[in-house]
Amino acid sequence: MESYNVPEIAGNVFWVGAKDWNRRLFDALIPLPEGTSYNAYLVKGEEKTALIDTVNPGFEKEFETKINTVSGLEKLDYLIMNHAEPDHSSAIRYILEKAPNAVLVTTERGVKMARIYHDIPEERIRTVAEGDSLDLGGKTLRFMEAPWLHWPETMFTYLPEDKILFPCDFFGAHTAQGTFDEEIEDLIPLAKRYFGEIMMPFRKMGAKALDKLKDLEIEMIAPSHGPIYKNPKRIMDAYAKWTAGETENKALVVYVSMWGSTGELVRTMVETLLKEGIEVRLYDLAVSDIGNVAQELVDSRAVVLGTPTVLAGMHPLALHGASLIKALKPPAKYGVLLGSYGWGGGAVKQAGEILAPLNLEVVGTVQVKGRAGAEDLKKVEEIGRELAQKMKG
Ligand code: FEO
Repeated sequence: MESYNVPEIAGNVFWVGAKDWNRRLFDALIPLPEGTSYNAYLVKGEEKTALIDTVNPGFEKEFETKINTVSGLEKLDYLIMNHAEPDHSSAIRYILEKAPNAVLVTTERGVKMARIYHDIPEERIRTVAEGDSLDLGGKTLRFMEAPWLHWPETMFTYLPEDKILFPCDFFGAHTAQGTFDEEIEDLIPLAKRYFGEIMMPFRKMGAKALDKLKDLEIEMIAPSHGPIYKNPKRIMDAYAKWTAGETENKALVVYVSMWGSTGELVRTMVETLLKEGIEVRLYDLAVSDIGNVAQELVDSRAVVLGTPTVLAGMHPLALHGASLIKALKPPAKYGVLLGSYGWGGGAVKQAGEILAPLNLEVVGTVQVKGRAGAEDLKKVEEIGRELAQKMKG
C-alpha cells in the first residue's frame, strides 16, 4: 500500500486531502502557476468520526488510503459537505459506498446540489441549518450557513474544542505548496489572486460571513485550497479589506495592440499616471496571465482598457479580458477606454457597453484612426491627469 503524508493539524484532526502539483488551469479559465490542493479533514471524536469534504476527481484511491491510515473508512459516521462543487464533492459517492453507515451532512440547498451532482439517496442525507451541531464525543462540529461563498449552498463548519474553522473555498489559495501558512512566504498575494478569481463577485456575502465570524474564537483556519492558517488574523484582516472593496491609488491597465497604435495611447496614459504618482499595473492581454489581472482588480481604483478594432468590434483577447473584468465585479471606481482602427471603428463603443454594468465613472475615451497624432496623445495626457486627480481626490 502506498504511504502518504497525513499531518495531524490538531489533536485527532487530520489533513487527508490531495495535492494537485501539476494542475495548470482551473475552471478551464484561470492559470494555476503553483497547482492547487483539495483539502479534506478527518475529525475523530471519542464516539464518532467525521470527514469534512472530499477531493477532486482522480484522487479517490489516494484519499481512501489516507483516511484508512487514520481510521477505518468503513467506520465513518458523517461526511460533511461544505460545498457541492466537484473539486470537493466528487468523491462523495465513492466514500458513501465504502462507508455503509455514514450519512452526508449538508444544508437544505446542499441537499438539492448533492442530488443534482451525486444522486445521493434520501436516507443517506442529514440536513443541517445555521447553528446546528453534531456531537462526536469530546469534539463538536457546528454549522454556519455561508451562501454564495462560492455557490448558493456553501456552509462553514466550526470545531469549538480546537477553535478550528473549516470554511471550504473561503480563505483559500491555489497552491499545492506547504501545509501551513508559515511555510509560504508569498501566501497573501496568492490568496489575493484566488480572492480576485473566486470570491470578488461575492464581496457582499463575504463581508456578511466575516461579520458572523467576529464573535467566534478562531485559532486555525483550515480552508479547502492551499495552506492552513495557524495565524488566522493575517488572512482575516486581508479579507476584511478585500470584501469591503477598499482600493489603492492604483490603476490596472490592460490592453491589446496589433500594430502599435493602441499601444502608443496606452504607454502615454501609463507614463502620465506614473508622473502623477499613481501606481500602475500594466498587462498586455496577448501574453499575460489573466490570474494576475484578477489579483490586481481586487484593490485597483481605476481600470484602463485599450483595444484595437478588429472586424468592427473589440480585439477578441480584449473582449475576453473585458468580459472577465465585468464578471468579477471589481470595486474600481474609474475607467478610461482607449482604442484605434484602420477604416471603421467600434471597439471603444463595444468596450463601454461591456463594462457598463460596473458603473465606472468613465473619465475619458480616445479612439484614433491609424496612428495617434500629437493632439490625440495630448488628449490622453489630459485624461490621465484628470483620472489621477480623481483617484487621489
Ligand atoms: Fe473549490 Fe467552489 O470549489
